[in-house]
Amino acid sequence: MTAKHTILQKLPSDLAPDRLPQHVAVIMDGNGRWAKRRGLPRIEGHRQGVDALKELVRCCHDWGVKALTAYAFSTENWKRPHEEVDFLMMLFERVLIRELEEMVRENVRIQFVGNLAVLPRSLQSQIDRATVATEHNGGILFTIAANYGGRQEILQACRAIATKVEQGHIQADEIDEELFSQHRYTANLGDPDLLIRTSGELRLSNFLLWQMAYAEIYITEAFWPDFSRAEFHRALSAYQKRDRRFGKV
Ligand code: IPE
Ligand code: IPE
Ligand code: MG
Repeated sequence: MTAKHTILQKLPSDLAPDRLPQHVAVIMDGNGRWAKRRGLPRIEGHRQGVDALKELVRCCHDWGVKALTAYAFSTENWKRPHEEVDFLMMLFERVLIRELEEMVRENVRIQFVGNLAVLPRSLQSQIDRATVATEHNGGILFTIAANYGGRQEILQACRAIATKVEQGHIQADEIDEELFSQHRYTANLGDPDLLIRTSGELRLSNFLLWQMAYAEIYITEAFWPDFSRAEFHRALSAYQKRDRRFGKV
């Protein structure tokens, strides 16, 4: 373990353990710019980004954050050059193969949200394998959004509910937030308390649109590959200073 990994293993003393976000979501942005700044191809940024994500999973585990959801590939990311898309798909698959054993050992439960059926078959197999191998783990719930779009998630829930209405299983006026939530990609994934986006962009980019209704948003200028424990510490400090009112006074 390097010095970088040994510092800040325990929850920093200025953070209140009882006021941590239960569920953190991250839009891992800026891999391309990170690489460009170093004169490297964009894919190097994606490669480095994997290390940053691994470290964040560990950090959540060490500090007591129960759920982490990471945006890995959006439904709009197919519009990128096909070399980059191919590289990302291959990277996801390799990382899943390489990291599975350790995730099992560290009690991580991994799951995926998104339209997974159109991902490369070999990647789907690894997704299934990792999901099944970790489904009984009781540690951090680590959700990866792959070929994910918030609008698509809402639409597919609408279709599923409409079919049930059509078939007479439910009445239209029985559709409420609870029922809708049961038809999302994963009903077990609650709302994030904190959304972190790196690289300074001030938008949601179609991420968890329904679930973000009351998320606290934290934006950092750091590019994703540079997102460290110290950065996460800053995000959590900012979160703990927020007054979450949920519409109340
Ligand atoms: C985020 O980094 C990774 C993915 C969207 C897969 P980007 O690739 O968007 O990096 P920038 O925003 O171009 O710097
Ligand atoms: C959002 O980043 C998607 C992921 C991080 C996977 P993008 O880089 O695709 O978002 P835009 O295009 O800047 O909105
Ligand atoms: Mg980007």
